[in-house]
Amino acid sequence: MRHSVTESLLHLDSSADLTRDSVTRQLTASFADAWRGRENRYRYRDVAAEPVPLVTPAYATLGRRVERHGVLPLDKIAALAETGAEEREWALTLPLIEEVLAADALLLGVPMYNFSVPASLKAWIDRVSFPGAFTDPDTGESLLRDTKVVLVLARGGGYGPGTPRHGCDFQTPYLRAHFGKLGVSEVNLSTVEAELTRAGDIPALAGLEDLAAESLANARAAVAELATG
Ligand SMILES: Cc1cc2nc3c(=O)[nH]c(=O)nc-3n(C[C@H](O)[C@H](O)[C@H](O)COP(=O)(O)O)c2cc1C
Repeated sequence: MRHSVTESLLHLDSSADLTRDSVTRQLTASFADAWRGRENRYRYRDVAAEPVPLVTPAYATLGRRVERHGVLPLDKIAALAETGAEEREWALTLPLIEEVLAADALLLGVPMYNFSVPASLKAWIDRVSFPGAFTDPDTGESLLRDTKVVLVLARGGGYGPGTPRHGCDFQTPYLRAHFGKLGVSEVNLSTVEAELTRAGDIPALAGLEDLAAESLANARAAVAELATG
């Protein structure tokens, strides 16, 4: 990923494993280290350690009201809140949206949980994806069209063609669809995947340790390449 010295990175981790054993945390940390070595703008958010509150009925009500106006500038939304609960929801949401908009690149560490993404990450996605938040109210274009997104994914098993679980990966396709819908362009969206991370632990995966090591080595190399461009 080519980037200039003035770019900023929002690094978000979502593994419930807060230790260095977490594969996604190891990989995102090495990306961030390389980035920070040359960049001066960096923000970190850990949605597992500090969960983003689930959206509430007031969030949904405010969102529906805003949608009826079309796409609104963010600074016009607070005035549409009709209750204290709606004001609180917006106060929780706006800084998270601004954090994304301020970033030139998003780095997301995402384990597979039950074929999909962790609930902690989904809570963040639901909240920041407020109606119109990433659309330019004047042009209708996505405000994320130039944003680079690096998805660092890990999963305990294997999901490639020919495996029993092929077709059960709702992690990578979901995230690709989500960021695509927000207007992130395909060329700016990179995925790095480490598979079979539990090969050393789960008896059913015994014998797959070499494949797991190869997958991790490939993921490490891909992260290094993306971080330094
Ligand atoms: C709650 C939970 C659900 C999981 N579900 C799956 C799953 O559906 N498929 C899978 O291959 N691995 C699953 N795993 C294993 C993780 O994807 C794997 O351990 C991965 O390395 C976790 O990322 P981390 O190392 O960054 O914590 C699950 C782990 C946890 C804790």
